[in-house]
Amino acid sequence: MERVNKIINHPLWIEAVSDIEHSEKVRKFCRHGREHLLDTARIAYIFSLEENLNISKEIIYAAALLHDIGRSEAYSGGLPHEEAGAALARKILLECDFDHDEVDLISDSILSHREKCALKNDNLCTILYMADKKSRICLFCDARNECKWDYEKMNMSLDV
Ligand SMILES: [Fe+2]
Ligand SMILES: [Fe+2]
Repeated sequence: MERVNKIINHPLWIEAVSDIEHSEKVRKFCRHGREHLLDTARIAYIFSLEENLNISKEIIYAAALLHDIGRSEAYSGGLPHEEAGAALARKILLECDFDHDEVDLISDSILSHREKCALKNDNLCTILYMADKKSRICLFCDARNECKWDYEKMNMSLDV
């Protein structure tokens, strides 16, 4: 996990995540700071193990830890967060010793993490999408009645 630890110590990752946490300090809905990124990583890795997907732990953690960092730019009026995040992730990944194929794989999963992409036949993309959603514990959320998620999509019981 050496390269993953490089990501969480990279100045651009720290800056983006700190910006997001600052911007969301009083947000009552789901937040996108370190806790969410790590929850997503761990759940995505559980999915990978349960389904025997054989995706490297480093690749899964890298994708999850980077998937929402574009919110920093999006909050200041820039690109949608998946686009801003994919671009910023590419820069960070290359500086953390990921090769070009790995960078393409991870940045594609970040670009599509808001779409249900199970049909794309891309396992990393699918588990990132699912883990992102499953990381939210709607059952315990005080803002549930004002949330934009449809009730059927909410996580009202535990399965991971
Ligand atoms: Fe996101
Ligand atoms: Fe997310």
